[in-house]
Amino acid sequence: MQHDKVLILDFGSQYTQLIARRVRELNIYSEIHPFNKIPTNIDAYKAVILSGSPNSVRGEDALHPDLSEIRGKKPMLAVCYGAQYLAHFSGGEVAPSNTREYGRANLSFIKNDEPFFATLSEGSQVWMSHSDTIKSLPTNGVLLASTNDVKNAAYKIEGESTYAIQFHPEVYHSTDGKQLLENFLVKIADLKQDWTPDSFVEETVAAIKEKVGNDKVVLGLSGGVDSTVAAVLLNKAIGENLYCIFVNNGLLRKDEFSSVLKQYEGMGLNVKGVDASERFLEALKGLEDPELKRKAIGNSFIEVFDDEAHKLTDVKWLAQGTIYPDVIESVSATGGPSATIKSHHNVGGLPDFMKLKIVEPLRAIFKDEVRRVGATLGIDPELLGRHPFPGPGLGIRILGDITAEKVQMLQEVDAIFINGLKEWGLYDKVWQAGAMLLPVNSVGVMGDERTYEKCVALRAVESTDGMTADWVNLPYEFLQKTSNDIINKVKGVNRVVYDISSKPPATIEWE
Ligand code: XMP
Repeated sequence: MQHDKVLILDFGSQYTQLIARRVRELNIYSEIHPFNKIPTNIDAYKAVILSGSPNSVRGEDALHPDLSEIRGKKPMLAVCYGAQYLAHFSGGEVAPSNTREYGRANLSFIKNDEPFFATLSEGSQVWMSHSDTIKSLPTNGVLLASTNDVKNAAYKIEGESTYAIQFHPEVYHSTDGKQLLENFLVKIADLKQDWTPDSFVEETVAAIKEKVGNDKVVLGLSGGVDSTVAAVLLNKAIGENLYCIFVNNGLLRKDEFSSVLKQYEGMGLNVKGVDASERFLEALKGLEDPELKRKAIGNSFIEVFDDEAHKLTDVKWLAQGTIYPDVIESVSATGGPSATIKSHHNVGGLPDFMKLKIVEPLRAIFKDEVRRVGATLGIDPELLGRHPFPGPGLGIRILGDITAEKVQMLQEVDAIFINGLKEWGLYDKVWQAGAMLLPVNSVGVMGDERTYEKCVALRAVESTDGMTADWVNLPYEFLQKTSNDIINKVKGVNRVVYDISSKPPATIEWE
């Protein structure tokens, strides 16, 4: 089935991914492409949205793509920089703003019967974030709306389905932003709203069948949402030809290896659990530097996975839980970090399993969409709602060198904290939580005895993507009870602290 598609041209705005997500929330499929890499198959897209940008159209660094294949030929919505771009290069004028134009503003409509604003009320709140302003409209521009500070807040081009807005419809604070996007995409551009989690599952399963046929596929399960959803999709498509490997690196949460493995088996996955804890601990012996620890864990994983993959015969494909943000990053105009990682891998010396052909069933969808697809597939909501957990696991939460005793101590502390969050109904209000074992001994007193024992730090953050985060204001009573439980139940710990640092400047993990 072919769905109508929206092309989002990215000029580098921090909000570009939000535009894509809002469009998809309308059950319309959207793709982000860098402004300077317009797809050659432009006919595949039924409408185009131009994003905002940190650049100025007036500067020498103005981003100036050739839109001749789009402008006037397809419905186009230009947001912020996009709106300024259209004005500046097509007969209008853009100048620096006299007043700061950030934050809330309210729309005042010039024409009341404009379909672009259908069902919006006069005064609708929008979010502004720009330092240039449109002084005069481009040729054939027709003013549609103003705000108190911004006269040319929205305009269209006479004779075209081209609309431009100075504000950001994609952000939460633009109250009717989603309605506005729907008005443009459905009422003006006539797109169908038929891209749903159900249709995604159906089409992805069919595509996997077609792509891999009767070949065998190997996949590494991590216990996280992405690899699990990828596995269930592949299982639906090819059943026993999917070989899942779930490695215990000895740095997982308490009892996680056995309980998640059971869960996987219960889901009907063809999965092999490999307990390589000792191998990882051996590789980590004596290492204190966080990056060296990460490398040792990463390399051990590759070795273990390669050994296991070699035990299978005739495997042709490696499945991965890559999701859309990783893909966008690797094709971004400037080339994100994942682009660099790929070029490294291409140099050679790859383990054998990496020479397999790649299948990535989730590469077109965002994390929240992965969760929705997972729900459609009937995956346990508890598994889908799990906090993110780093690949190197407790290895980067034990500061300094790692020993089996320290891992066990931290597993106990972490379990008390996480189970407590669940019992108090706080787990789902927190984006990620965990405990750190600090390389600090401090003096305490237990009974009549002086103690000199370990200190642990608890961290709980709220975030949307892990890029920025803030500490969570957990109830004092909860912290009090948790601290008490930890000190009383975990031998070797006599002090608990709570981390109240935001990211930036602190990171979520301590290493
Ligand atoms: P930071 O500590 O950078 O973490 O603020 C942001 C998010 O990334 C996770 N994280 C990792 N995940 N391998 C991973 O797979 C890593 O080496 C790693 N380091 C951090 C972290 O748990 C948080 O969700």
